[in-house]
Amino acid sequence: MRKAVVCTKYREQQTINYREKAMGKNSGVGITFNKERASTYDEQRAEMAPINDTLHFLTRMILKKLPDDAHVLCVGVGTGAELLYLSEAFPRWRFTAVEPAKPMFEICRRRAEDHGIGSRCTFHQGYLATLPQSELFDAATCILVSQFITKQDERRRLFLDIAERLQPGGYLISADLSYDLSAASFERIYDVWARMLRYSGVSEEDIKKNDKSFGDSVAILKQEEIESIISYSGFNSPVLFMQTLFVHAWFAKLKDLDEKQGTQKNPADAKGRAVQFNCSAQ
Ligand SMILES: C[S@@+](CC[C@H](N)C(=O)[O-])C[C@H]1O[C@@H](n2cnc3c(N)ncnc32)[C@H](O)[C@@H]1O
Repeated sequence: MRKAVVCTKYREQQTINYREKAMGKNSGVGITFNKERASTYDEQRAEMAPINDTLHFLTRMILKKLPDDAHVLCVGVGTGAELLYLSEAFPRWRFTAVEPAKPMFEICRRRAEDHGIGSRCTFHQGYLATLPQSELFDAATCILVSQFITKQDERRRLFLDIAERLQPGGYLISADLSYDLSAASFERIYDVWARMLRYSGVSEEDIKKNDKSFGDSVAILKQEEIESIISYSGFNSPVLFMQTLFVHAWFAKLKDLDEKQGTQKNPADAKGRAVQFNCSAQ
């Protein structure tokens, strides 16, 4: 009984934290993805096009099974790269685009309108927790987002929130920066990473900041740690389908209603279990 009270309190606090973030308090994304960063984002990403192109192409192949009129949730959609790509590949799909950083969000909405897909999109500037409830989605993308959530429980909460909004059997595409920072190869791979950033026009100053932010404003987890967060949220074992330097991408399916006893029956169960987990971990 006491545990249930503690858990409810924990959950309420989490919701308050999310709300505060959505209102711009206590938020790191405003600083990270400010106007200046947003204005150069697409140009810099264009220099790394082979990575994005592969990621988008494989995402397309994985999601090809979805119905013609699928509704896809794009979490941390940024300036809209995955949204524009998928909307072109699947002309009848609808999208809900969620992005907390206003400068990124505005570019995304403008690009969507310019591409004539505005009427197929619902735009939400804010965190996922503040998105009004709607029909359950057929799939969700969360591309290069969750590494910015440095608190473990918030990161777990993001995946639980995604799971809660998916249909049973719905797909998650999640890309993250991941590596074993204690591995002997880390320095060597970081060297190539820094070279790639330099090549794509990132300033020396920002590369230095990037160096410092590893483990500070960016949390690089090991592959198995990220997989465990995804599984824990109610998904079947995530499948790693791409790796380029630190960028790792997985797909996973939310467990079906009829899956084995003892596993999650619906997304709400997953949330309940996680709250218990968090509480007992305190
Ligand atoms: C590196 S960008 C990726 C954007 C886009 N998905 C892409 O692949 O180009 C990361 C985005 O995640 C957003 N973001 C950061 N924390 C977030 C959170 N907790 N929930 C949703 N989005 C978040 C940032 O504002 C930023 O636009």
